[in-house]
Amino acid sequence: MSVKKVAVIGAGVSGLGAIKICLEEGLQPMCFEKKNDIGGLWIYEEMPEVGNPGVYKSLTSNTSKEMTAFSDYPFPDHYPNYIHNTKMMEYLRMYASHFGLMKHIQFQSKVCNVRKHPDFSSSGQWEVVVEANRKQKTYIFDGVMICSGHYNKKNLPLQDFSGIQRFQGRYLHSWEYKHPDSFVGKRVLVIGIGNSGADVAGEISRVAEQVFLSTRRGAWIWNRVWDNGNPMDATLFTRYNRVIQKFCPKFLINSWTENKLNSRFNHANYGLQATHRILDYKTVFSDDLPNHIITGRVLMKTNVKEFTETSAIFEDGTEESIDAVIFATGYNFSFPFLDDDSGILDSQHSMFKLVFPVQLEKPTLAFIGILQPAGAIIPTSELQSRWVVHVFKGLKKLPSESDMLADINRRKRMAKQFVKNPRDVRQVRYIDYMDEIACELGVKPNLLSLLLWDIKLAIEIFYGPCTPYQYRLQGPGKWAGARTAILTQRDRILKPLRTRMLQHSEAASSGLFWSKSVCAIILFCVFMLTITLM
Ligand SMILES: Cc1cc2nc3c(=O)[nH]c(=O)nc-3n(C[C@H](O)[C@H](O)[C@H](O)COP(=O)(O)OP(=O)(O)OC[C@H]3O[C@@H](n4cnc5c(N)ncnc54)[C@H](O)[C@@H]3O)c2cc1C
Ligand SMILES: *[C@@H]1O[C@H](CO)[C@@H](O)[C@H](O)[C@H]1NC(C)=O
Ligand SMILES: *[C@@H]1O[C@H](CO)[C@@H](O)[C@H](O)[C@H]1NC(C)=O
Repeated sequence: MSVKKVAVIGAGVSGLGAIKICLEEGLQPMCFEKKNDIGGLWIYEEMPEVGNPGVYKSLTSNTSKEMTAFSDYPFPDHYPNYIHNTKMMEYLRMYASHFGLMKHIQFQSKVCNVRKHPDFSSSGQWEVVVEANRKQKTYIFDGVMICSGHYNKKNLPLQDFSGIQRFQGRYLHSWEYKHPDSFVGKRVLVIGIGNSGADVAGEISRVAEQVFLSTRRGAWIWNRVWDNGNPMDATLFTRYNRVIQKFCPKFLINSWTENKLNSRFNHANYGLQATHRILDYKTVFSDDLPNHIITGRVLMKTNVKEFTETSAIFEDGTEESIDAVIFATGYNFSFPFLDDDSGILDSQHSMFKLVFPVQLEKPTLAFIGILQPAGAIIPTSELQSRWVVHVFKGLKKLPSESDMLADINRRKRMAKQFVKNPRDVRQVRYIDYMDEIACELGVKPNLLSLLLWDIKLAIEIFYGPCTPYQYRLQGPGKWAGARTAILTQRDRILKPLRTRMLQHSEAASSGLFWSKSVCAIILFCVFMLTITLM
């Protein structure tokens, strides 16, 4: 018996992609969303309900639009390269209406329980208990796609901060932070330097009397604006760079990248010096932080030793009086609708390729978007959905349980050298992970045959940004617009920047011609090298 009716839990970016892929493959999706709108994390709410993720008003993506798009639906060409949350919502609404997704979503419907149907071992079916209008209803589905997000539980480690109970000022998690208005003229301490910590500290520092940013491990600060003003991810996430990285010793790449970032501003002088090498930990983006530090609006601090009623004492012995503390200490994820004894997940949440739980007799339940790609999440979770739907339909088989466990262990070992922190096994390298899933599905672009039949496209795929459209060129789910989308991606990057028409166009185009010719020559050599070495 094959899967027909699929429950999709959550209508964030992962859920929307999952609904679309189910429809594309002829399944019947029914999506349950506890909020009354699509978009998940990207919805800005002044007062989020408890249990909903929240974002601050100014949140702008740290992945650029060409790398962030759904694989068969590029962002409109006039959209800026980095996307404000309101623009992201616009894009998601266009996507949902273009593919007719809204009628498959039930809003204000919270999934409370997912459990195996009594004859699961033969049917693979699931019982899904949904609460709407304070009434519970049980549905039966052939398959379940869990797209409930992994920023749904704030991590507030108060136990690590002695004296916080007696601190008389205000303290909150960055999750509750919306805009800087309530911090005007205040002395504010931000704890933790992730993407949120850097953003929040910078934003508040414009209006606060003083902002302190406390970090134990330091951070390498990346810039959205990369060489020649191109978006960072679209410049660095290329197949060409990936080949170089494979053959170059890691310490060289670390040094090269660290020198590059230090040439913008010296991380040691700025009090940001990290205890880890740059590739060992997740990336922090902030275009503004060095400006706030050099103007003294943000002062870097070590870890907090303890709080008094009105101040924080740091590990270096200094003491600063403080009015408010913001904990930018990250998030945890949880699946409250799965019982601990349901036999679906083990305590470590092991999943084959971060998607399929291994112990199930039938592969009819999958997790979508529960990972941290060092890149955009939309294309990653969309590709996961495409694979999952093929497994649901029986077109692709999963390996045996022991092979899946072996793969999970291999990933854990790799993660241990990639990130020093073993809890971060969900961190993946973007191109590697996309290719891995694409291979399962048979949609990885075949560069060798492209080199013979379509050299222009091959060059852009190899040297250009590794955009999601590459995974729509061949195999199941092929999209006729993919080739054009790839060949016009650079135009879409430039279009929103060129809002002031210049009299005579600069020499940009001849430069492009030269680099393309040189590329074509190098391309052949690198290919021969790749083929012989891989
Ligand atoms: C501050 C911040 C900035 C980020 N910036 C970027 C970025 O620039 N680029 C990028 O690619 N990624 C970014 N991310 C990662 C982000 O997680 C993804 O972009 C994406 O929003 C994840 O989507 P999702 O659909 O998987 O989860 P979510 O957006 O969390 O959506 C999950 C949905 O499921 C619903 N739900 C949960 N439980 C239930 C239930 N029991 N019943 C019914 N519905 C339920 C929720 O209401 C929600 O609508 C950022 C994350 C954060 C926190
Ligand atoms: C939550 O995540 C933090 C780090 O982000 C980690 O230290 C902590 O152990 C996690 N807590 C739980 C309950 O998983
Ligand atoms: C973007 O920011 C989010 C939220 O802090 C983070 O989880 C993600 O890793 C960042 N993306 C990149 C490519 O660094």
